[in-house]
Amino acid sequence: MILNPTIETLMNHRSIRKYTDEIPSNEMIETVVKAGQQAAFAGQLGSLILSREKKSHPFGAPIYFIVCVDIHRMQKVMEKRNWKMISSDAAMLLFGVQDACYMAQNLVIAAESLGLGTCYLGFVPFMADKLIEKYKLPPKVLPLVGITIGYPAEVPPVRPRYPLDFSCFEGKYPEFSDEQIERAMKQMDEGYLAQDYYNGGKLMIKLENDREETFNGLTYSWTEHISRKWGQWLNDPEELREVLNKYGFEFLKK
Ligand SMILES: Cc1cc2nc3c(=O)[nH]c(=O)nc-3n(C[C@H](O)[C@H](O)[C@H](O)COP(=O)(O)O)c2cc1C
Repeated sequence: MILNPTIETLMNHRSIRKYTDEIPSNEMIETVVKAGQQAAFAGQLGSLILSREKKSHPFGAPIYFIVCVDIHRMQKVMEKRNWKMISSDAAMLLFGVQDACYMAQNLVIAAESLGLGTCYLGFVPFMADKLIEKYKLPPKVLPLVGITIGYPAEVPPVRPRYPLDFSCFEGKYPEFSDEQIERAMKQMDEGYLAQDYYNGGKLMIKLENDREETFNGLTYSWTEHISRKWGQWLNDPEELREVLNKYGFEFLKK
């Protein structure tokens, strides 16, 4: 693999969940925001809310960004041009999520290249009532993901990923063989177990159905963990529709 400082930063990525009290300088914050802004965009449909209110942040991080899908601001610009947005909320959400994600990841890479640690927080969209009130969000601004930033107070190992042939498919999508799937799962599970990521089973997600528990601290790892999330949570699309409605995104036919 070719290495240069940029690729080294990327390959050294690990989420940081413990921070020192040192506060990143304003120049650093401005730098990572500008790097975030400089990501490719469909329509600059991402914006950031910056919080320095350490005590309210996940992991007590000194800096917390909420990356938003921002269709409101686009509408304001279009109004000045005497245009009305007729693209559907679903379409705008799709492009907005893309713009917000590229912005977020640029910001994270820039922060990590400056020696800062970061962690994404994915539960943010589900805190609609609190966030709309706290940040005075107008309709069509959707907090997509949170990012904590600060100086790392831990050095966790680099986490495993799927093998390359389970991630990148040349020419056409493959029909996976059992062997290929099992090899990929083994790489993930053995990798996480070797790092004791689930803390000897202490971070196990509980079974919410009548399945019998067959895992323990020595066997519970990433593929079971992630399966328990997507096999038990967020089953009701109506719930998600309600969340999106709170942010002013409508999915009913006109
Ligand atoms: C969209 C998204 C949401 C995430 N949400 C959380 C979260 O709520 N809590 C958390 O501790 N980590 C969260 N993470 C971090 C992941 O757990 C982490 O990226 C993954 O375990 C791989 O580890 P690494 O980032 O150290 O390589 C999230 C990451 C992403 C991209």
